[in-house]
Amino acid sequence: PIETEFAPRLLAWFDRHGRHDLPWQHPRTAYRVWLSEIMLQQTQVSVVIPYFQRFIDAMPDLPSLAHAPQDDVLALWSGLGYYARARNLHAAAKRCVELHASDLPRDLDALIALPGIGRSTAGAILSQAWGDAAPILDGNVKRVLCRLFGIEGWPGLPKVEKQLWAIAETILPNTRLADYTQAQMDFGATLCTRTAPACAICPLQDGCIALREGRVAELPSPKPG
Ligand code: ADE
Ligand code: SF4
Repeated sequence: PIETEFAPRLLAWFDRHGRHDLPWQHPRTAYRVWLSEIMLQQTQVSVVIPYFQRFIDAMPDLPSLAHAPQDDVLALWSGLGYYARARNLHAAAKRCVELHASDLPRDLDALIALPGIGRSTAGAILSQAWGDAAPILDGNVKRVLCRLFGIEGWPGLPKVEKQLWAIAETILPNTRLADYTQAQMDFGATLCTRTAPACAICPLQDGCIALREGRVAELPSPKPG
């Protein structure tokens, strides 16, 4: 069944076609993963990379960020946009110094309690930084799951989102969680894309409900008007 085939096939695809040289993968610390995920929330990888490098050079660990003046943090963010991300990042770092021994907490609820971190970003941090079995559900993953499992309804609806989180939990592998998270991002960004999915070369094609039913172009359902 595709539920058990999803992770192994995705990981095999990732080994050949995924991104293995992103700066936050080497070394993969919680602080570096967190910073990259916040930058990547509204900005694409190619734009983020030089900003990430510059930020890490100036503030290489969480205490250096927490103790920096706000203006220095905003200056490093200048050009990336959505400056609330930078203010939340700074506030969260200060709270980690006070509450979590100057590191990110290795706990889903404690991560979500920090400013700027939602459930998907928390899952991305837990899986990539520590290899914990925590799912992610960003726009790319929602699209892939809606197609693969033939899920109806706009993925932004709470009812649909709940269904997608449940699927994301059940298809989690018990190894290679960091690679698994990155694999999903890369798969959605380069193969099962919004407007031109490459179904003909997709490693999940034999289990894909949208493909079987000729509904790839209709899923995920658009936001109701
Ligand atoms: N978007 C959010 N996180 C990402 C990641 N790790 N790689 C690529 N795109 C992303
Ligand atoms: Fe996406 Fe097509 Fe693969 Fe289905 S077969 S998961 S729609 S790329």
